[in-house]
Amino acid sequence: MKYSVLVVDDDKLVNEFLVEALKRAGYECESVFSGEDALVLFKQKEFDIVLSDFRMKEMDGVQLLKHIKNINQKTAFIIMTAFGKVETAVKAIKLGAYDFLLKPVTPEMIEHLMSRVTEMLDLKQENQIMRQELSDKFQNIIGKSKEMKEIFELIESVASARSTVMITGTSGTGKEMVARAIHYASNRRDKPFIKLNCAALPENLVEAELFGYEKGAFTDAKKTNRGRFELADGGTLLLDEISEMPLNLQSKLLRVLQEREFERIGSANTISIDVRIIATSNRNLKEFIASGKFREDLYYRLNVIPIHLCPLNERAEDIPLLAQHFVEKYNKENGKAIKGIDQTTMNLFMKYPWKGNVRELENLIERAVVIAKHDILTEDDFPIELAIGMDSDGSTGLNVPMTIEEGTKFLILKTIEKHNGNKSKAADALGITARTIRNKLAEYNMVEN
Ligand SMILES: Nc1ncnc2c1ncn2[C@@H]1O[C@H](COP(=O)(O)OP(=O)(O)OP(=O)(O)O)[C@@H](O)[C@H]1O
Ligand SMILES: [Mg+2]
Repeated sequence: MKYSVLVVDDDKLVNEFLVEALKRAGYECESVFSGEDALVLFKQKEFDIVLSDFRMKEMDGVQLLKHIKNINQKTAFIIMTAFGKVETAVKAIKLGAYDFLLKPVTPEMIEHLMSRVTEMLDLKQENQIMRQELSDKFQNIIGKSKEMKEIFELIESVASARSTVMITGTSGTGKEMVARAIHYASNRRDKPFIKLNCAALPENLVEAELFGYEKGAFTDAKKTNRGRFELADGGTLLLDEISEMPLNLQSKLLRVLQEREFERIGSANTISIDVRIIATSNRNLKEFIASGKFREDLYYRLNVIPIHLCPLNERAEDIPLLAQHFVEKYNKENGKAIKGIDQTTMNLFMKYPWKGNVRELENLIERAVVIAKHDILTEDDFPIELAIGMDSDGSTGLNVPMTIEEGTKFLILKTIEKHNGNKSKAADALGITARTIRNKLAEYNMVEN
């Protein structure tokens, strides 16, 4: 893709040199000699990349950056500054500049920088297109890993069949999302999607909820009530956490699956229905069968189309995509404009065990987006466990295997946290000097400013 570049420099020679270098490299390029003119032009036409000098007469490069970012967050802003003015560059980066160039700028520097910028812009665009395509089709389910691609294919191919689907996977892997996607991808999409969580209700209520009841069928049955099977007629019924379904109901369910008919409680009238059943489980149903808690014949009836969602840490390549998706989701909900997550934190994300899978990732990002005061999320916006790759509920202990260095980092950070940030107390407790702690923190890039 061809990107447009705006060059802003009040030095005529530099300005011309940049324009020429960029045009030669094939970029569509325009130039102005002041921040004010840049802004006027930018308001008419939003450039993909702005390459601006820092020191200019009226509006300087950092002021221009702020204005431009207000108009278009996505523009890649590069600031050029004289050698020895690195603090300006740092400030610009904090304000959202993509990078800086130290003057004098050479053609090689331009070439190198532009290839990085365009690669970044390409990637962003690709991700955006992919997310849009996915969300249109699959109810916002995000993923590009081989595992998720297989899931997307399965959703599409099984959607319009009536066969029962059994979705398995540990907590938070997206089972309910997939169930909904199957319903909305099917020709049943205009009919109801009804859900019953088998674990949330006591046994007698599960039965009443599923099959409905006639007035007077039991003490509390003040009026006739239709059950979820009837409500879902023509559509889809999701039986969540099927392993928790009481045994006597399992046989009743089996009959509905086989004969597609049932009676309300307290009625002799047989009702025929056309319902697609999707069941989910985060338990190992084979074990439930072995211990007599789940009927084997029901299992095979349900498991006609098995879909297994693997844990998030086994498809880590989905993490950046999911993370960005959740940043945007919670930006919208909270009126924030966080741009993303820095690379160091993303590296930690890639190694973290994610015991709570996508739900845990979503929750951590929601919290970070709400509390963050800057526009890029960093390690500090997340619980300390992330830094050492330990599970956030703290229950799993050290995530072995880890190196001695990672273990040391964990101990130091945990001890400081335990002493409410007091480093000398933490040092005492660890039997090391306060200086050693400070040096270690510097090593981890965790010095306060
Ligand atoms: N691939 C995904 N893309 C986007 N969001 C996802 C994805 N997978 C899960 N989520 C989000 O994570 C959360 C948990 O998903 P869901 O409720 O479908 O998981 P589950 O497997 O049913 O969990 P549980 O076993 O705890 O019931 C939801 O908020 C969902 O929107
Ligand atoms: Mg669920």
